Amino acid sequence: MDKANPYHIGIIMDGNGRWAEERGLSRSRGHRAGANTLKKLCQHVVDLEIPYLSVFAFSTENFKRAKTEVQYLMNLFVELFKKELDFLIEDGVKVVFSGKREPLPPRVLKAMDEIVQKTSSNTKCVFNVCLNYGGKSEIVDMTKNVVQKVQNGELSLEDIDEEVIDANLYQPLPPIDLVIRTSGELRISNFMLWQSAYAEFYFPKKYFPDFGPEDLDIAIEEFRKRNRRFGGVKK
Ligand code: IPE
Ligand code: IPE
Ligand code: MG
Repeated sequence: MDKANPYHIGIIMDGNGRWAEERGLSRSRGHRAGANTLKKLCQHVVDLEIPYLSVFAFSTENFKRAKTEVQYLMNLFVELFKKELDFLIEDGVKVVFSGKREPLPPRVLKAMDEIVQKTSSNTKCVFNVCLNYGGKSEIVDMTKNVVQKVQNGELSLEDIDEEVIDANLYQPLPPIDLVIRTSGELRISNFMLWQSAYAEFYFPKKYFPDFGPEDLDIAIEEFRKRNRRFGGVKK
């Protein structure tokens, strides 16, 4: 039995739309409710002293959605980063982002840059927001960084190992121990492919807006019962 708490938790925050539709509400209302849940979960992760939290907020593929939904989400991100997440600053949380800047609107990039800058010297916990993120794109972009360094003579082919790959991804992060995807879908939808290589997966049926701190406690409890072998044999 693995008694340790996860060091890095990843959450694929799914099911906002269905949560709203089942209540006869607009999808936007679901995203609003999801944002409230995210705030509570962040606070809980800080209270539990879990050092890394990564959340999937918007995939590169989510640009396929209706313009009105994308716009609502972009405005919600600005609102969150400008003030709703201010409690993170006092709590010692460092906010970082994973993903591509293009084609995010300038107002979103500005709000992202500001929260990164305001929290850059915090050390208690890292909150990594995957926004306009795709796991395969991250690996392509990492490959370009590494090849560039080889071409510049900064790196030789023999130097390339897993640590070099880690250091050239969007953010230098430890491996994810526990991936939680809400809403009952059993897939990872291009979330942190490299970082989740040996993660434990947990798929609660609840839609994200209903997934509260007590549900996170249950997920962590379940994680602690898992037998992580990493290819070896546990006695
Ligand atoms: C997750 O909820 C939020 C984002 C992808 C931005 P969804 O919007 O995917 O909700 P469902 O899956 O349609 O219910
Ligand atoms: C994954 O959810 C992306 C986020 C939670 C931001 P989706 O709802 O976009 O994933 P699919 O389309 O069901 O795979
Ligand atoms: Mg979804």
